[in-house]
Amino acid sequence: MTVGSRKTVLVTGGAGYVGSHCCKEFHRNGWQVVCIDNLSRGRVEAVKWGPLVIGDIADSEIVDATIATHRPDLIAHFAAYAYVGESVAAPHIYYDNNICRTNSLLNSARSVLEKPIPVLFSSTCATYGHPVQPLIDERHPQWPINPYGWSKLVIERMLSDYAVAYGLPSIALRYFNAAGADPDGEIGEVHHPETHAIPLAIEASLTDDGPFSVFGTDFNTPDGSAIRDYIHVTDLASAHVLAAERLLAGDRRAEVYNLGTGRGTSVLEMISAVRRATQRDVPVSMAPRRAGDPALLIADASLARSVLGWEPTNSSIDQIMMTALQWRLRAEA
Ligand SMILES: NC(=O)c1ccc[n+]([C@@H]2O[C@H](COP(=O)([O-])OP(=O)(O)OC[C@H]3O[C@@H](n4cnc5c(N)ncnc54)[C@H](O)[C@@H]3O)[C@@H](O)[C@H]2O)c1
Repeated sequence: MTVGSRKTVLVTGGAGYVGSHCCKEFHRNGWQVVCIDNLSRGRVEAVKWGPLVIGDIADSEIVDATIATHRPDLIAHFAAYAYVGESVAAPHIYYDNNICRTNSLLNSARSVLEKPIPVLFSSTCATYGHPVQPLIDERHPQWPINPYGWSKLVIERMLSDYAVAYGLPSIALRYFNAAGADPDGEIGEVHHPETHAIPLAIEASLTDDGPFSVFGTDFNTPDGSAIRDYIHVTDLASAHVLAAERLLAGDRRAEVYNLGTGRGTSVLEMISAVRRATQRDVPVSMAPRRAGDPALLIADASLARSVLGWEPTNSSIDQIMMTALQWRLRAEA
């Protein structure tokens, strides 16, 4: 509900990593924030900028009542399972949680209020599959190589079909590698199990828990390790607020934007950044490539820059590392 000039955003998955950082940014920009999360993978302590409704996005009774009470101007949809390996081992939970439950949410988004509520959706570079060119723009072919990527691609398709059939406006944001933490240390990355490279490399540097595995040292890249495009989670958050403003400004229809820096960082360069941040060594073990790991994943995010006016400002690898390390040390304290 718009109160005065304040807009309301309903955030699904707001107790998770990216969702909680976006809640903070929406709140900082004057939005009222309401979260819905079933806490299957999130933390109640990460919800700090508005009420939390504990519930599943597929529980229409709860979702519809939340929409009717708060009358959100926008739904920002982060709730999902997001582990590539798990999706390969147990695809049924990905097709259920990500696709079927999103369909239930979208059905509420289109039907509870007088007109459809615009949706901002967390998509991923995993919808592209193996890159056929060094810089990936939004028109790059989409042929995912795991069920997680497929589940997100199907949702993109659902959004475009809902736009045509029901006039439901949406923007899908395809993130590359989200990383880093809130510079104020209020929230940060917590996944169980942690599968993301930066927290794992920091852990290897700070503890005796074992070396960090470098998967693949024979890629066709300058140092032989895989190259990724790390984007600071606060830069992702600022893109969400800009995309939200664009969605509310006009009659948009199922748009899509990449969110990355356009710069690649190799795994070995990332490890050097961990050493600079922790001032300690990072024990590493060299391991063979993992199936389906491309050599390069780098965004062409020029569309988000030109249309949304977005500029990532916190995404140097050293800024990412410092905030990730501060969060890790705070968690220990
Ligand atoms: N982290 C990344 O690098 C990255 C990259 C690309 C895309 N994404 C996407 O961004 C979104 C957020 O990712 P994250 O890393 O913050 O994950 P996360 O696991 O930290 O957060 C997901 C949140 O959604 C909640 N949730 C899951 N299923 C739910 C359901 N059915 N009903 C209600 N709540 C539910 C979980 O409890 C959790 O709080 C996901 O959609 C993910 O696919 C993440």
